[in-house]
Amino acid sequence: MSVISDHKSRPRRSQLYAPGNNEKLIVKASKLDADSVVLDLEDSVPAEMKEEARRLIGRLVPELDWGKREVCVRINPLNKLDSYRDLLLVSTLDRVDSIVVPKADVGLGSIYNATGKSLIPIVETARGLLRVEDIVCEEGVVAVTWGAADMAFSFGGSLDAFSSNAYIRTKIAAAAVTHGVEAIDKVYFDVEDTEGFAAEAREAKKYGFSGKQVIHPNQIGPANSVFTPTAEELEWAQRILRVYEEGRRAGRGAVRMDDELVDEVHVRIAKGIIQRANRGAVGED
Ligand code: COA
Ligand code: MG
Repeated sequence: MSVISDHKSRPRRSQLYAPGNNEKLIVKASKLDADSVVLDLEDSVPAEMKEEARRLIGRLVPELDWGKREVCVRINPLNKLDSYRDLLLVSTLDRVDSIVVPKADVGLGSIYNATGKSLIPIVETARGLLRVEDIVCEEGVVAVTWGAADMAFSFGGSLDAFSSNAYIRTKIAAAAVTHGVEAIDKVYFDVEDTEGFAAEAREAKKYGFSGKQVIHPNQIGPANSVFTPTAEELEWAQRILRVYEEGRRAGRGAVRMDDELVDEVHVRIAKGIIQRANRGAVGED
């Protein structure tokens, strides 16, 4: 399996951020049950500490045992010189699987070509939202996520309006589904409100998102739980495949299951659910 298809099929139910200048949190992140860990060099690291954070990441990434977790580094935005320093570091770290690109715009393919690392853009500006499909289809992209606070800032709007924005989730999910990459939902800032977190995760799942960015251990369990297919979903998916296959044998591409139409799109959805259910989570063999 190629590196990119391997990365595309891995679980990212929970994608945990740890500030790149915080050794304690990075060490802890390497032991928690998040499917994916993002060592941050962007907004959680003050400008004067970026260099120190790069040194810390350069030391800790090879030193720690990351198990099956995806290891990502969030670089600075590509219009900042720091991003080039970040890329030079990341390209030397074999254990880094993916680069998270904040405030993503088009032109990411060159990062993939230069580093060989897969890419996870964050759509969090008005321009990024308008161009989401062009961003997602770039070479090396394996997942896409978004950020409500930066999006609100970019528009001059409010966090509330963007956090609950169905248009944004629909548009990002549409681009992700079309180009066969994962859609990962936004950060939820209140780390004690696990009910609110889970409700937002369930909402995102309804739009086709398969994981959520998380910033605190409290959010990992709820994210893993919401984004693991339930027994009912799995049963539904297996039934779809059976009914559709029977239809195909009779020369039909559109068939009826109970009162509803089933065709190729339902098969793709069902396969996605089965694929997600079969993915080994971190800590499982
Ligand atoms: N990764 C790993 N471990 C974390 C963690 C994280 N993101 N956030 C908290 N923890 C650990 C703490 O180290 C602490 O461990 P301990 O019990 O062994 O001492 C435990 O979880 C409880 O943490 P808590 O005291 O509740 O957190 P806090 O109040 O000190 O910090 C935040 C809260 C939000 C500041 C902190 O969780 C954080 O920095 N999150 C990541 C922020 C980030 O990376 N942002 C960029 C993307 S938006
Ligand atoms: Mg941001």
